[in-house]
This record gives sequence, structure tokens and C-alpha cells, in this order.
Amino acid sequence: MKSSAFIYKGILWSIGVFCISFVISCNDEPEEGTPVDEVVTLSFPNYFPEFTYESIPLTQNKIALGKKLFYEGKLSRNNAISCGFCHIQEFAFTHHGHSISHGIDNRMGIRNAPALQNLAFLSRFMWDGVIHELDQQPISPITAHEEMDSNFPQIIQKLNEVEEYQDLFRSAYGDSEINAERILNALGQFMATIISDQSKYDQYLQGQIVLTDSENNGRQIFEQKCSTCHTGALQTDESFRNTGLYFNSELADAGRYRVTLDSADFMKFRVPSLRNIALTSPYMHDGRFLSLEAVLNFYSDGVEDNPRLDPLLRNGEIVGIPLSNQEKQDLISFLNTLTDDNFITDPEYSEF
Ligand code: HEC
Ligand code: HEC
Repeated sequence: MKSSAFIYKGILWSIGVFCISFVISCNDEPEEGTPVDEVVTLSFPNYFPEFTYESIPLTQNKIALGKKLFYEGKLSRNNAISCGFCHIQEFAFTHHGHSISHGIDNRMGIRNAPALQNLAFLSRFMWDGVIHELDQQPISPITAHEEMDSNFPQIIQKLNEVEEYQDLFRSAYGDSEINAERILNALGQFMATIISDQSKYDQYLQGQIVLTDSENNGRQIFEQKCSTCHTGALQTDESFRNTGLYFNSELADAGRYRVTLDSADFMKFRVPSLRNIALTSPYMHDGRFLSLEAVLNFYSDGVEDNPRLDPLLRNGEIVGIPLSNQEKQDLISFLNTLTDDNFITDPEYSEF
């Protein structure tokens, strides 16, 4: 986490050359005996989208509690499945090697676990955008039958039996009460700090390095052929698109349609960020492609025409995005520049 801690009054916006610091804090003086906590400032590049996370101020003790909860098996019915079980830091917090996530008792879900990164800049979560607030997101995995299969009364009882948690909740929230709202807020605060902004591409954007010829060609092709959907610094406009992937009737996942029940949304999925994409195989909402080559072959030759196909993927008679082999190679060189090695080893996000 690239954050510095301050005790601060009022609201301050400071804009640096490449960093925007964002600090908001409580105005009340702490009561005597209240454990010490500090407001945390997140730094991120000025080319990032707007900071959307709302449950501020972020504080050191809430984030620390959230991190402990993120790696806590007791959030699941059998005490074995933590958030970190499916969201593994080394793979940009995805469930590497699993096309669709396996949860409790090896039950299978229907979707591929997305990377957890730069979530404080998004306003729609999940492949179908069903969730709008980061603090609300954990309710879904905690209660899902095939993920953690638990509930808040059960979790609260288990955490209350651990003295360390009473202390952690006291230092984060002023008293030792453990409740659902606090659990969710702490998880949300921790996830808001998970920022990936130190890739080779960032160094390029900040004028610190030049890209190789292949990377630079790939960047130009990406800007011409991909960035209408994979827009901006996080490569997503957060819209929902039908990309002409065939409907997998076994999983029966119709994407955004599941949320809106509007047939126009059949097989539309949220445009994902492509940061750290080289680390997060397999790809797509159901992990159907094992490599980036396979994804690009899909865009050039595998897109299925259908009435809801995104107009950007149809040009007259041509369906999909024409790409030569050289263009594919260059695109992959470019996509590799989105890998952030510091992010996947940063101890601020690690279990130990
Ligand atoms: C069994 C595996 C599994 C577990 C355990 C799990 N997740 Fe996930 N997570 C997923 C999958 C699969 C998705 C995609 C779900 C969807 O799109 O419907 C996901 C999506 C998310 C997202 C949305 C990311 C985005 O870009 O929209 C967040 C945030 C998240 N999980 C956080 C958590 C937290 C916090 C926990 C623990 C309380 C947790 N997950 C536990 C598999 C898991
Ligand atoms: C019409 C909008 C659109 C265009 C254009 C587009 N994409 Fe995508 N892309 C998406 C959507 C939507 C998904 C998620 C699809 C799904 O899982 O159902 C996606 C998924 C991906 C994934 C997999 C991400 C993951 O986490 O699994 C990669 C890689 C990718 N796109 C790269 C590209 C490249 C490279 C181009 C240009 C050649 C491109 N995309 C053009 C909308 C688009």
C-alpha cells in the first residue's frame, strides 16, 4: 500500500505532479482512553479515474482489521475458506488455475474470480455489476452456498471467542462490539487500499522509461482496437458488453441479464480492467480461455455474431477484430507491461 498516515483535521486535496493525495478525517477530538488510530492517505497517479470509495476516512486500525478478516477462515462455515483462498495476491488476487472458483466443500461457482485491484476507483462490482458499494460486496461471498456458506450471527459468535478480535474492533471502532456493519466496513477499507499503479506501463506514463518497439506497437494497436471498451488508466469504462462469447448452457450465466432481466442485456458482462492480466489466467467471466493468445484468437476469429453483439465488434460483414499474428504478438508485449511486481509482493496486502 502506498499510503502515509496522518492525524488530520478537515479536508485537504493536494495535487502533485503524478500523485493525488486524498485525506478526509474526523473533526471530533477522541475521547480519553480511546485507542489511537490514524487517518490513512492513499496515493495514486493523477491519471487514475475518480476515487469512488465512500466509507471514509480510511484509518490504519480499520484497514489492519480488514486485512486480518480478509485472511480469516472463520468467515466461512467450516473455518477453512477465507477471502484470500480464492483471491491470491501472487496472481493479482485471482483464483489462479481455476476457470470457475471452487469454494467450501469444493463446491463450484459459476464465475472466474476477478482480480482485486484499484477497487476504490470502480462503481460497479462483479462481472454483472450487481453490487455498487465495496463495503456491501463481502455479503455475497460470505453467504453464498458455494463460496463461504456462512452468516453474520455465526461469524460474530466465532470472532467474539477470540480476544484479539475484541481488541482489534476496539482499536478500529472505539469499543469491542463486533457487528456486521463493522466487519463489512473493515473489509471494504482494506480492499480500498489495494492499489496497483507501479507497472512498467505506469513508468512509461510517468515518463520514466521508454517502451520497446513491440510494446509500443502493441500500445498503439490497443488504443485503436481495444480502448473504446478497455478505456483509460484501468482499461475499463465499466460498461456491459456482449462480446460474442457463446452461451455456456451448463453454467447458464447470462451476465447482466441476471440483474436487469432485460433481454437486451443477455450475455453482457462488465468490461474488466486489464491490469496484471498476464498473471490472472484463465480469462473471461467463466475462465474459458487459458492464455492471452487464446483471448486474441477469440477476438480475431471466434466472435459469434448475435443480435446483441456489441456494435464495436461488427464492421459491415466483418465480425470481431481483425488482427495479424504480428499485431497479436505486439498486443501481448503491451499487455505484459501492465504487470506490477511490487503489487503482488507488497507486504501491506499479504497475510503474513
Ligand atoms: C469461492 C471463491 C471466493 C471466495 C471465498 C471469495 N470470492 Fe470474491 N469473488 C469470487 C468470484 C467468482 C467473483 C466474481 C463473482 C461475480 O461476478 O458474480 C468474486 C468477486 C469479488 C469482488 C468483485 C471484484 C470486481 O472487480 O468486481 C470482490 C471485491 C471480492 N470478490 C471480494 C471478496 C471478499 C472480501 C471475500 C471474503 C469475504 C471474497 N471475495 C471471497 C470468488 C470468491
Ligand atoms: C466491445 C467492447 C470490447 C472491445 C472492443 C474489446 N474488449 Fe476485451 N473484453 C470486453 C468484455 C466485456 C470482456 C469480458 C467478457 C466476458 O468475460 O464475458 C473482455 C475481456 C477481455 C480480456 C479478459 C479479461 C479477464 O480478466 O479475463 C482480455 C485479455 C481482453 N478483453 C483484451 C482485449 C483486447 C486486447 C482487445 C482489443 C484487441 C479487446 N479486449 C477489445 C470488452 C471489449
